[in-house]
Amino acid sequence: MSNADTTDAVALQREIRTLSSRNSKLSQLLKASRDKLKDLSAQIDALAEPASTYGIYLAGGVGRDAEVFTSGRLMRLKVSPNLNTEELAPGALVRLGDGSIVVEDCGFPDTGELGMLTERIGQGRALVANSTGEERLVRLAEPIATSARAGDTLLVDTKAGLAYERIPKTEVSQLSLEEVPNVTYADIGGLDEQIDQIRDAVELPFSHPDLYRDYQLNPPKGVLLYGPPGCGKTLIAKAVANSLSQRVGDGSASYFLNVKGPELLNKFVGETERRIRLIFERARELAGEGRPVIIFFDEMESIFRTRGSGVSSDMETTVVPQLLTELDGVENLANVIIIGATNREELIDPALLRPGRLDVKIRVQRPTREGARDIFQRYLTDDVPHAEPVADLIEVGVEKLFAPRAFVELTLVDGEIEILDYSDFVSGAMVANIVDRAKKLAIKDHLAGISEAGVSRQHIAEAVLAEQNESEDLPNTANPDEWSRITGRHGKRVVQAQVIG
Ligand SMILES: Nc1ncnc2c1ncn2[C@@H]1O[C@H](COP(=O)(O)OP(=O)(O)OP(=O)(O)O)[C@@H](O)[C@H]1O
Ligand SMILES: [Mg+2]
Repeated sequence: MSNADTTDAVALQREIRTLSSRNSKLSQLLKASRDKLKDLSAQIDALAEPASTYGIYLAGGVGRDAEVFTSGRLMRLKVSPNLNTEELAPGALVRLGDGSIVVEDCGFPDTGELGMLTERIGQGRALVANSTGEERLVRLAEPIATSARAGDTLLVDTKAGLAYERIPKTEVSQLSLEEVPNVTYADIGGLDEQIDQIRDAVELPFSHPDLYRDYQLNPPKGVLLYGPPGCGKTLIAKAVANSLSQRVGDGSASYFLNVKGPELLNKFVGETERRIRLIFERARELAGEGRPVIIFFDEMESIFRTRGSGVSSDMETTVVPQLLTELDGVENLANVIIIGATNREELIDPALLRPGRLDVKIRVQRPTREGARDIFQRYLTDDVPHAEPVADLIEVGVEKLFAPRAFVELTLVDGEIEILDYSDFVSGAMVANIVDRAKKLAIKDHLAGISEAGVSRQHIAEAVLAEQNESEDLPNTANPDEWSRITGRHGKRVVQAQVIG
């Protein structure tokens, strides 16, 4: 080989090397461009993809199958390999990609219709009623599968037949208060005997269940507080609830379901009964936690009138039996006590008052002088500005309240005349009002610059008069039959009633 040949070969080799390196650079460039192109075309493809639809995942199927409710139909669809079928919860909202493949888990829906759980059916299913009372059987989604209970308001997809979420707005709480009232026994005047009676009936069984068991004595199911209006029946029931709730120490704080009569009533057939059932169901559930539950029916005669009395509609023919069923029911009512209050006990269906039902009856009567004094003391205390010693003021109040002053003249059936005085109608509510009036008079005097000394005898005396003249708690009727009921003294019928003054 000549020298010239050698140099040529070296040059060529060098050229080959540069060329091949350039070649590989080019190919790299080409590859990068191709990747970019692929990305772009994928993006274009994605843009061209049809819009996603959504569905509700109901259940998994074999392998990667899923039952999904979408556009009004139940469908069996495939799940994308990117999704873990085990993590999909029944009831979850899912996004469906191309070819109706489940591609994304969007969690539970958070808007929709509301329904009220009326009854749980077995595991994971429940009857749910909508606002018109139409019932549907739905499945309970996992988050509420065990916690939902009767009376809860639920977020439901009626088409998919699923309930997802408990909305904190229960029907039972619309019907009843579960809060503890802030009235204590100390706020109640002149009713010590009644308070003792109800404490014995209600608190004793709760505080000494073991003794009751040993003596094989069943705690009473219910107590009826009856008596004239404004004398403290509602007050006592509230104080019982408060007292029970104070005993947190021994873990027996109570629940107080204050059932508002008028709200329980519903003109739709069967609706009132259903609500009664609901309240008892709720009570049993709460009692199941081992704490005492009080169901308080105020103005009881408005709901549970004597059947066939014809006084109201015929509703009581079914409502009373519903309550009887709940009271007598085979289902356990342990730890549940019913307190009823009424100022028309004669209207209540007698069946409710038989032994084993509301069989403890406590009469809350009008205050005597002593009682009135006691009630005055709750409202007119030493910390209220007073011009004279409080005890003197109270004495004036009691004297005036019980002073003879004719209120109504009744003609009895045998021609006898009976005069009733204002003092025959004293009530706790009246005393409370009198004190309020006297305080207002004192404030007026204060503002008018007459006296800044506080409540005086004058104010009290004036307040008693004003209260007697305007009291809404006084029987306000010219109907002789009503008067027969109110006096009930001689069992004689009143034929004429004339209000004096
Ligand atoms: N014994 C009492 N001690 C203190 N306050 C009383 C007493 N009785 C009545 N009151 C006052 O009168 C108000 C009405 O009393 P309450 O609601 O307990 O009457 P009631 O017996 O339930 O009447 P009704 O039959 O009309 O429902 C109470 O809020 C309270 O201010
Ligand atoms: Mg009341």
